[in-house]
Amino acid sequence: MHVQVKNISLSIQQKPILKDVSLEIESGQSLALVGPNGSGKSTLLRVIAGLLKPDCGQVIVDDNEVGNLSPRKLAQRLGFVSQDASTTDAIAVYDAVKLGRTPWLSLMSPFGSKDKKIVENAMCEMAISGYASQQFNTLSGGERQRVHIARVLAQTPQIFLLDEPTNHLDIHHQIAIIDWVARQSTTVALALHDLNHAFVCDRVAVLNKGQLVAYGEPKAVLVSDVIDPVFHVATHQTTTTHFDHPILTFAKSYRDQ
Ligand SMILES: Nc1ncnc2c1ncn2[C@@H]1O[C@H](COP(=O)(O)OP(=O)(O)O)[C@@H](O)[C@H]1O
Ligand SMILES: [Mg+2]
Repeated sequence: MHVQVKNISLSIQQKPILKDVSLEIESGQSLALVGPNGSGKSTLLRVIAGLLKPDCGQVIVDDNEVGNLSPRKLAQRLGFVSQDASTTDAIAVYDAVKLGRTPWLSLMSPFGSKDKKIVENAMCEMAISGYASQQFNTLSGGERQRVHIARVLAQTPQIFLLDEPTNHLDIHHQIAIIDWVARQSTTVALALHDLNHAFVCDRVAVLNKGQLVAYGEPKAVLVSDVIDPVFHVATHQTTTTHFDHPILTFAKSYRDQ
């Protein structure tokens, strides 16, 4: 599914949070949203997910404006994992992932063998099959994060919106998520802190103080001229024979002093 973000502006308590943000995600492509803390990444993802209504602008998913879709239709199209998704309820891991199927179920089509297969595959993909009967609230932060992602996988949406999905994860599971993003043929937008992870995405958008300051291919965007003034660091893009993409290294910037 193709996503168009058109001239989105949003203020909260008179404070501008997003300022005229426009970007597109082509069907099947992945977009990394990067920017300093408080730059508006989570807010933008919530606007795209239809959870926050912008003051101006529109989000169009294929031919539908997100604001006009019913919650059920929205959930069939968009799967969202928030930055600090929480479930306080005592619920077994399997049941938490099974909740992802809710938008597809009705009296006429109750949870069946096809849904069971989808739930099992999602749990397998996130390596949580062994936790099926464990209570969600007894899991570690990283395990919970994988359950949340498995839940949106089970939702089988056409667009994944993931807010810092690698938060709380150890390096093995971070790489597993990034590799999953790289392999996806579904449209994905994800907020990321580790700029090196953004190289696997088709496009990178850099937000600074609510404004889109750069948007394009990772190799072109993740360069010193773009990153240094936004993050106040000294960035060096380098190539290595170990990876099929460049890597960034960072040092303290003395430029602003
Ligand atoms: N509900 C809210 N009330 C007041 N300010 C908010 C609210 N939500 C977000 N903000 C502010 O909006 C800015 C952007 O926040 P956010 O989108 O969470 O940034 P990011 O995800 O890039 O760290 C921050 O300055 C934050 O304090
Ligand atoms: Mg955030």
